[in-house]
Amino acid sequence: MRSAEDMSSGAEPLTDARLTGLAVLGGAPAFDRPRHVGRPNLGDRDRLLARIDGMLDRLWFTNGGPLVQEFEEAVASIAGVRHCVATCNGTLALEILIRAVGLTDEVITTPFTFVATPHSLRWQGITPVFADIDPRTHNIDPAQVERLITPRTTGILGVHVWGRPCAVDDLQAIADRHGLPLLFDASHGLGCSSGGRMIGSFGAAETFSFHATKFVNAFEGGAIVTDDDDLAERARLIRNFGFADYDQVRSLGTNGKMSEVAAAMGLTSLEARDRFIAVNHQNYDAYRRGLDGVPGVELIFYDDEEATTRQYIVVEVDESAGLSRDDLCQVLWAENVLARRYFYPGCHRAEPYVSEQGPDQLRMPMTDRLAAQVLTLPTGTGVSTADIEVITGLVRRAVSAGPALAAALPRRPGTPPAAVPVPPDEQPDGG
Ligand SMILES: Cc1ncc(COP(=O)(O)O)c(C=O)c1O
Repeated sequence: MRSAEDMSSGAEPLTDARLTGLAVLGGAPAFDRPRHVGRPNLGDRDRLLARIDGMLDRLWFTNGGPLVQEFEEAVASIAGVRHCVATCNGTLALEILIRAVGLTDEVITTPFTFVATPHSLRWQGITPVFADIDPRTHNIDPAQVERLITPRTTGILGVHVWGRPCAVDDLQAIADRHGLPLLFDASHGLGCSSGGRMIGSFGAAETFSFHATKFVNAFEGGAIVTDDDDLAERARLIRNFGFADYDQVRSLGTNGKMSEVAAAMGLTSLEARDRFIAVNHQNYDAYRRGLDGVPGVELIFYDDEEATTRQYIVVEVDESAGLSRDDLCQVLWAENVLARRYFYPGCHRAEPYVSEQGPDQLRMPMTDRLAAQVLTLPTGTGVSTADIEVITGLVRRAVSAGPALAAALPRRPGTPPAAVPVPPDEQPDGG
């Protein structure tokens, strides 16, 4: 791989001209309005409003109304399973599933995820035991999982990060060998496949998120999907305070129901998903062209043999870029390109885990390296091919100026993503 110095010591020597005009050094930003990671996609507005009108006419706003029922059927059919239990968000889907499966004590999961994954365990008094990731896939490493199984382990919770599937067969084999339930947080995984089989149909059950930042959204929303009839029944009870009937409470429960207005948005968004996927694929190709040959900035791959939604544009920035991931992020933010460093610094370094857990749980070299290198870039229907040409041009320019640019950057207390407010509808997640 060529280094940034090679690039800058070619025909043209590095001059200050490479730096002039960059917004981070006082120039005008490349974009007058921010370009976001995870800006909501909007389906057909008239269809959405017609659904909401129908809901208002029916005066049926929640408690398993017709829109939620339709949404559940649609999601179950995409995942290729019998049951979908729609919830008010993806976090509640995880919490309800974990309770419905009966997990306790310790559950093995990944530190390279949005913090909702371990929080959904810890919220219920369960200790998330972090297993380091496979740096090629960014997903939990099955060998690390098996190493961490003890008599206290009650389950395994994988996450299909970016919608790229976990090593599902290896994890299932480990789960079977040890008699443990295997669950997946598939918040990023709707519409993606592994070995031709849709995400949503693996393990004992999986969960989706339909948060506004996901490519299909329900404003806020989530779902549990499974082929297990009893598990689905327990999840439905828990979702609705444990009510089996009008006045029969059969179990402990919570209020995890999806509202009709959320389902209206979810259905409208699902109808438009082929268009959203096509845009994401186009955007990914534009990034691939624009970043081709840029040293130290590697766009992650998506398997062309599988169904993919490519809702995340993820690059890994290594030392051969000549400036760090955080430097590049600072340069882009000044240009109004709101790149995000997901899932920095890794859940093992977030509270309460960093304070509660022992030194072994801080030793996550693969996650630490990746969390220092990953940058996600704007995509979705709010970003055009022309925007991406500008964004990749900025990345090229920053890398070609590499160390000189890094040395010239204004140093502020805190890095740019932490120092500026989170824009509307973005959560500092992966979400
Ligand atoms: C991997 C992951 N897990 C869980 C969640 C939580 O989902 P929600 O925001 O719908 O509660 C998100 C995203 O938001 C996520 O990205």
